[in-house]
Amino acid sequence: MTNRSTRFTDRVVIVTGGAGGLGGAITTAFLVEGARVAIFDTNPDAIDRALTELARPEAVMGADVDVRSRDSVTAGVAEVVAAFGGVDILIAAAGGSLGTPRDIDDIEPEHLDLVIDVNIKGTFNCAQAVVPHMKARGGGAIVNFSSIGGRSTSPVTGIPYAAAKAGVLGLTRRLAREVGPDNIRVNAIAPGLFLTGRLQGMFDEMAAKDRDEVLDAIPLHRMPELRECVEPVLFLASDESSYITGAVLDVNGGRFMAG
Ligand SMILES: NC(=O)c1ccc[n+]([C@@H]2O[C@H](COP(=O)([O-])OP(=O)(O)OC[C@H]3O[C@@H](n4cnc5c(N)ncnc54)[C@H](O)[C@@H]3O)[C@@H](O)[C@H]2O)c1
Repeated sequence: MTNRSTRFTDRVVIVTGGAGGLGGAITTAFLVEGARVAIFDTNPDAIDRALTELARPEAVMGADVDVRSRDSVTAGVAEVVAAFGGVDILIAAAGGSLGTPRDIDDIEPEHLDLVIDVNIKGTFNCAQAVVPHMKARGGGAIVNFSSIGGRSTSPVTGIPYAAAKAGVLGLTRRLAREVGPDNIRVNAIAPGLFLTGRLQGMFDEMAAKDRDEVLDAIPLHRMPELRECVEPVLFLASDESSYITGAVLDVNGGRFMAG
């Protein structure tokens, strides 16, 4: 049985979007379980805030990395390797619909570019940069962020997000096939709605009737805690899932059930 407090001792983890809601909670959990963690994010203030709040400051670093840029990602990964000696785990959480409109008539080309670039190109850039370092360590684990919006249709996000998050699944499977022989596992997580700070405000402001509608679509009939996304991510990153690759884990209270 794995000891949960030392599951990731001395493992080096990169969390993209690590200054955000889910990425921040994932960073904290890895630190608690003994890992060294690098946060890649484009929000330097949020990185600074996260770094001051986190336990084990000697085990965490932040880098101002825009995942859309291969040069920026490559430089960030080089910083991590210089500081921590290598990379074992990548959590590619940078993404979202990034404030773009939902309805087709309102979507401009730059909205589509932004959502595709951060979610798909960013996920690809990070994988491409870490794979050689994982090979050098004899293996690794990558967890990519899809969404219920890429598995089914979501009423809150639009076509660019649906296309990007479905694309992340194709990327995940193809990469898993390619790097499996190098003992690198690649999986995806597809969360339903998790109320991070920003989304909690939106949910609280909804009319009671609309909140009930959201809950009625969820068989478990409650909103999840953040740890209920964090723990499946850590499972996919850990040796407990050592024979799982190319898979997608739906973490949505039953709102979407795969056939
Ligand atoms: N919260 C949910 O309900 C939910 C549901 C399904 C999927 N997801 C996915 O989970 C992931 C994390 O979502 P969240 O709710 O924590 O969002 P969030 O907005 O709180 O965090 C996203 C983080 O990514 C960073 N980021 C944005 N663009 C970037 C870029 N180009 N390079 C580097 N960093 C960048 C942001 O600064 C932010 O800190 C996203 O991929 C999102 O699509 C979230």
